[in-house]
Amino acid sequence: MEEIYNVRFFNKFCRLCDDSYNRGWNEANGGNLSYRMSEFDVDEVRKYFSYERDWQDIGVTVENLAGEYFMVTGSGKYFKNTKEEPDDNVCIIEIDSTGTKYRIVWGLVNGGRPTSELPTHLMNHSVKKDITKGKNRVIFHNHPIHTISLSFVLDLDDRTFTRELWDMMPECPVVFPRGVGVVGWHTPGSIEIAEETAEKMKRFDVVVWAGHGVFCAGESFDRVFGILDTVEKAATILCNVKAMGGKKWRVTKEQVMTLYENYGIDVDGTFFD
Ligand code: 13P
Ligand code: ZN
Repeated sequence: MEEIYNVRFFNKFCRLCDDSYNRGWNEANGGNLSYRMSEFDVDEVRKYFSYERDWQDIGVTVENLAGEYFMVTGSGKYFKNTKEEPDDNVCIIEIDSTGTKYRIVWGLVNGGRPTSELPTHLMNHSVKKDITKGKNRVIFHNHPIHTISLSFVLDLDDRTFTRELWDMMPECPVVFPRGVGVVGWHTPGSIEIAEETAEKMKRFDVVVWAGHGVFCAGESFDRVFGILDTVEKAATILCNVKAMGGKKWRVTKEQVMTLYENYGIDVDGTFFD
């Protein structure tokens, strides 16, 4: 255990759970995290794997993830406890050769299964792996207060959320220049929400689940944490602005587009049209 904990990706995974819990983004078992391991990662920790546990249905097909390994939080497990007892709270799973089944090869030593949102995580990984040519590795789900609050008062469409958050500070179009996708309320853990989220992930790195939380995708643990930190900070500012009577002015397309001219940030200007 000691040794696996010291492996870099493993340590970073647990650190993100801890940081996220400390930000108040993960009450009780709220939220989940998955990491698509590189071949190097797998080679580093393969000596800890065992292959006795049965194959289980994923519920969706993710052909391009066949044979891959993922580190994933357990269903019903608390982010709060992950850093101290990773072997009780997280697992490493292997995807079978058809992309329809998984088996646990490490972790969840006291029983349990990967997050109930596994279909969404794996479908998002599948989409992002293709689009980013393998660069994307992390999918992060959480329950941040202000972003969820806004999902009860803003119109539930990509354009409204993107523009409202971009208005709050220039860091927003810098950190999420493709914008924010929005998915209406669905049963958590359902195939329906997995499919709708994966569709949005073709365009966005951030997807808001109305009345529930946020999914972020990125190439590193720092990147997904940074996205959520920025989204939630902007959402907090917006909640304050609304509580203080609302905006008296808003940022223009021309102002935001200077980010491209000055810093080469490829902001999706269609949100202003
Ligand atoms: P799990 O405990 O199954 O990961 O579920 C938490 C959650 O946030 C569901 O959306
Ligand atoms: Zn959730």
